[in-house]
Amino acid sequence: MKLKIEKAERLKRLPPYLFREIDRQKEEVRAKGVDLIDLGVGDPDLPTPGHIIEAANRAASDPANHQYPSYSGMRDFNAAVAGWYQRRFGVELDPGTEVVTLIGSKEGIAHIPLAFIDPGDIALVASPGYPVYHIGTQFAGGEPYFMDLLKENGFLPDLESIPPGVASKAKMMFINYPNNPTSAVANKDFFESVVAFATEYNIIVCHDAAYSEMTYDGYEPPSFLEVDGAKSIGIEFHSLSKTYNMTGWRIGFAVGCADVISGLGQVKSNIDSGAFQAVQIAGITALEGDQTCVEEMRQTYQERRDILVAGLRSAGLSVEKPSATFYLWVEVPQGYTSAGFAGLLLTEAGIVTTPGNGFGAAGEGYIRMALTVDRDRIREAVKRIEGIGA
Ligand SMILES: Cc1ncc(COP(=O)(O)O)c(C=O)c1O
Repeated sequence: MKLKIEKAERLKRLPPYLFREIDRQKEEVRAKGVDLIDLGVGDPDLPTPGHIIEAANRAASDPANHQYPSYSGMRDFNAAVAGWYQRRFGVELDPGTEVVTLIGSKEGIAHIPLAFIDPGDIALVASPGYPVYHIGTQFAGGEPYFMDLLKENGFLPDLESIPPGVASKAKMMFINYPNNPTSAVANKDFFESVVAFATEYNIIVCHDAAYSEMTYDGYEPPSFLEVDGAKSIGIEFHSLSKTYNMTGWRIGFAVGCADVISGLGQVKSNIDSGAFQAVQIAGITALEGDQTCVEEMRQTYQERRDILVAGLRSAGLSVEKPSATFYLWVEVPQGYTSAGFAGLLLTEAGIVTTPGNGFGAAGEGYIRMALTVDRDRIREAVKRIEGIGA
């Protein structure tokens, strides 16, 4: 019997699910027995390093870790985060007031609008972008204003093009570098302009740095918090998911402006009870232990990146070689839409990719490929793409 109760407006107002058609095609191709190469999902195929798993195993056996954790994080985890920020970026953080542990950074990104956005308030979000920024905003009753990320601007938002009337009503801004899905990176000059803009208009900046360690050719992305004044108006979201192949463990954190962290903490204390302590202890081992595993992860993706970029270019496709993230943002050939080209790769080559418009209207004209299969499968993908003569 069908439920006679309507879903809440916030669910009914969600944008249409743009991957429906590609999902349908994927099932159809799979049902024909085609050996699919899935470059669609941004989930590392590499395992969590052994020393982190061992730490979790030991901690999981300790009854002290079986009770409710603190919603804001264990003191030792928050201190490990502060230590990592100091070593990695030279940024000082007070673990007591400027760090909060998250059940994955997605959790914090989805919840932060509940702390600061009232119905009618605006949040500035990127298009294309990670969808949780605008959906979290809408769930809180706010209105997203989309800042287009365009190739001619290096896929950075053009802050000057935001109408002053919009900027004055905006309460939050989400930015994300290294970027998903465009793989663009930002330097400190850009962060300085964001701080100046946000200070002028009184806007909280949420910088999502989930991919800051997934980098190539020795590139080291800066933290937003390295810029003068950033800690007075902004926070940075971070995650162990991509750095240590821990997507399934659900552990991340937010750091920065104490008042913003406290707002997020207040929401969390009413909604969740913190990450499992054994997972936090594993996280401490990850942040404080030997970082060789991170370098190995970078080498693995760099090799895949080089094979795929060379292969796509020799097939005549236009793609930048990214200096961070495990995504390639590939321009679709003339005459195709994002969905049309993703459909062609799926039906003619058995390759799953993500149409760029699924990340926002400004992603039209691109597809995203994730480097989440091994190099032999990447070589196979290249052969198939060359075979269809795209
Ligand atoms: C840009 C970006 N931010 C945040 C996340 C969420 O990561 P997690 O919740 O695993 O920390 C993702 C996941 O793919 C992402 O791409």
